[in-house]
Amino acid sequence: MAAQILDGRALADRVRQEVAARVADFRSSTGITPGLAVVLVGDDPASQVYIRAKMRECERAGLRAELHHLPADARQDAVEAKLRELNSDPDVHGILLQWPVPSGLDYGQLIEAIAPIKDVDGFHPVNAGRLLEGRPRFVPCTPLGILRLLEAYDIPVAGRHAVVVGRSPIVGRPMAALLLAHDATVTICHSKTPDLASFTRQADVLVVAVGRPGLIGPQHVKPGAAVIDVGINRLPGGRLVGDVDFEAVRDVAGWITPVPGGVGPMTVAMLLHNTCEAARWITQGSSPSTNSPGM
Ligand code: GUN
Repeated sequence: MAAQILDGRALADRVRQEVAARVADFRSSTGITPGLAVVLVGDDPASQVYIRAKMRECERAGLRAELHHLPADARQDAVEAKLRELNSDPDVHGILLQWPVPSGLDYGQLIEAIAPIKDVDGFHPVNAGRLLEGRPRFVPCTPLGILRLLEAYDIPVAGRHAVVVGRSPIVGRPMAALLLAHDATVTICHSKTPDLASFTRQADVLVVAVGRPGLIGPQHVKPGAAVIDVGINRLPGGRLVGDVDFEAVRDVAGWITPVPGGVGPMTVAMLLHNTCEAARWITQGSSPSTNSPGM
């Protein structure tokens, strides 16, 4: 039987409506509109597309979104100064520095210039460390969105074997930490893992975040597994595909995310969620010890 498709667009729509309701309540009780500042350095075309989608969705949910576009030759200290200025701007509750930044800039060091309480991407070492400790505050948007998808479709995680392919600080590493926090047994595979299929075939939940079209075929998948495809690759003809051979794997998997329309919309939805939470925590002067559904 063909796998059930995990519809990220429909769920992201529901999340946006929930956030919109929370934003409206927050605004009527405090007079404050949650605000997101997006910082883009340079002119990467894919980043410009992602940023437009993020800002459009913010506005649809009633959040304020502002773009700070710095030139490709901006120096490290100029970008850090911009981030610090946003840290002390009371109208800005969330700050997102779009990745990648032009070569010559140190992305990790720039992230450290963002106040952890405004780090809605969850990339600051304070937030990454809290997630590893199992007491998350801001969880990176893609892993958080994937967890929401798994929960929405009642896909069990606790006690199951989750295999994450990819170890980037944006997706692979925080995804593994989040699955561990939800009691999965977690394996991380990467470019130096020999015989990838011998690991992925053990997965009840397989998350693939590498950026290589066709990396995962049916021979990599245990029958009935949940297959989550984070890859977004543009083929020479212009078609967007993930890292998973969707048509072949859907006959083996129990659940599968499409590309586009799976993980991508959930990433944006979780940015809205995190920005709304940032505004609440900053305004209330505190944050709860956890920001993860079901923790
Ligand atoms: N580039 C691709 N995905 C992301 C993301 O989730 N956050 C940021 N800041 N940049 C990205």
